[in-house]
Amino acid sequence: MSVPTDFNDRLLSLGLARVSEAAAHASAQLIGHGDEKAADQAAVNAMREQLNALDIRGVVVIGEGERDEAPMLYIGEEVGTGEGPAVDIALDPLEGTTLTAKDMPNALTVIAMAPRGTMLHAPDVYMDKLAIGPGYPKDVVTLDMTPTERVNALAKAKGCTNRDITCCILERPRHEDLIEEVRATGAAIRLITDGDVAGIIHCAEPDVTNIDMYMGSGGAPEGVLAASALKCMGGQMWGKLLFRNDDERGRAKKAGITDLDKIYGRDDMVRADVIFAATGVTNGSILRGVKRNPKFLETETVLMRSKTGSVRHMIYRNPIR
Ligand code: FBP
Repeated sequence: MSVPTDFNDRLLSLGLARVSEAAAHASAQLIGHGDEKAADQAAVNAMREQLNALDIRGVVVIGEGERDEAPMLYIGEEVGTGEGPAVDIALDPLEGTTLTAKDMPNALTVIAMAPRGTMLHAPDVYMDKLAIGPGYPKDVVTLDMTPTERVNALAKAKGCTNRDITCCILERPRHEDLIEEVRATGAAIRLITDGDVAGIIHCAEPDVTNIDMYMGSGGAPEGVLAASALKCMGGQMWGKLLFRNDDERGRAKKAGITDLDKIYGRDDMVRADVIFAATGVTNGSILRGVKRNPKFLETETVLMRSKTGSVRHMIYRNPIR
């Protein structure tokens, strides 16, 4: 078979689904067993092996960490067979390690692929995030607004009252003031304990998930993955890197970021077409988790392409031999 020359090649995009499936399969035996590290390691190994079978000249731009911290799928690692299109890869082999260890909802395996040089090299720092679904005027809410102004503006644009708006927020002590302010507006809050990639994806399908807006800080690498998903599904997102010390500012500079105060829109984080795949590990509101049966493992994967706006849900049943 000939090697694809375009990263948007249909067969190649299907290959990306296999990569996220493999990671979910590998972590399946560790769901609910209280061992975050083992679950993550199993997902990393499987994702890397499957990724290296793809005909791409890939470079990991969002990965498991810096080279000295992560032996596999580290930032800058070259992946793929070394033939085919030159691409950036953003991945999180297990998004929600604690969710997996505790068998709590919405743990995912996640990977996104875009042409080389088009994804933000987000350092491993926090990012202040804001996201809404499709169908709203551009910049109807912004990171510059207070949480109250955001809820008011979104309710006005949706043609409803604040009480009909639901925001998704990570439950963290650092978000106490944010939560208090959003509650005071009358809006409802879906608190999540982990997994803000899934939290942001929820905004793209408010009719299914009941979530209208995501806000709060979480990992910057996860921000780029969420932006990739929203670029395929529709929806707006903004992110601003947050630095707690000089070491974190140094990480940003090392990643080539010069304007430390920049607010990134969705398309600044992913500057060209992107393909995104995610497989459910634990049951969630967007994807079913891995179903374990003595005879087979079954997964649900979503594969999306921003070029076509296509969203494909795939069920994969793999017999246990
Ligand atoms: P892990 O899967 O690496 O544990 O990350 C889970 C997560 O909840 C992310 O979704 C989120 O961006 C980040 O952790 C939030 O970080 P913190 O736990 O430090 O608030």
